[in-house]
Amino acid sequence: MLPFVVAIDGPAASGKGTLARRIAQHFNLAHLDTGQLYRATAFLVLAADGDPGDQATAERAARRVDPAMLDDPRLLTEAVAQAASVVAAIPAVRRALLQFQREFAAHPPGGRRGAVLDGRDIGTAVCPDAAVKLFVTASREVRADRRLRELRQRGVAAIYQNVLQDMGERDARDEGRRAAPLAAASDAVIIDTTGLDADQAFERALEVVARALAAHGP
Ligand code: DC
Repeated sequence: MLPFVVAIDGPAASGKGTLARRIAQHFNLAHLDTGQLYRATAFLVLAADGDPGDQATAERAARRVDPAMLDDPRLLTEAVAQAASVVAAIPAVRRALLQFQREFAAHPPGGRRGAVLDGRDIGTAVCPDAAVKLFVTASREVRADRRLRELRQRGVAAIYQNVLQDMGERDARDEGRRAAPLAAASDAVIIDTTGLDADQAFERALEVVARALAAHGP
């Protein structure tokens, strides 16, 4: 039996991460936040005072990413997020991180029957055969507002206009790059969370995933 794979893509602060965690927990599936791989790459580059846009430097860092780094809270800063979207545009970096993601989907840790992967290119490039593809999105203003609250909750002083501008720059880079740009797969179910809270988004996703799981078999 092939593992049951749920691919969740979408822009920053669309709610895809929360949704991915809840879906994984509800159906007892493994979960991989693939953005953490790009963040870890960026973190290694910045920690060595390197240039995230330099291909050789970024590729070397991507090859050094270790799963044990993925829970490091230092990956959550805005500086790392911006640098992550720069390293993510380098094809050699994407190639270096691809194997780990495919391996995770093909052999979900903990002997689980499947996995949820969230990112930007899971449904289009990493797992094009996923049983379920969700594309989670929201207006840029709503996403900037959510990110602002999240930053303030963590005690970071932030200004809405700056967060909105950073979000716009990151969107432009993630959508505009040539290598696996952020895009909805043609067979993805779109969930627009602009007017939804986390519970409502979860209800919609739950319905889609439960249907696919029933069709997938025990
Ligand atoms: O989801 P996030 O904010 O943690 O992602 C950080 C950056 O990593 C994002 O700006 C683009 C990149 N990324 C990517 O290119 N492909 C993925 N599958 C996940 C993230």
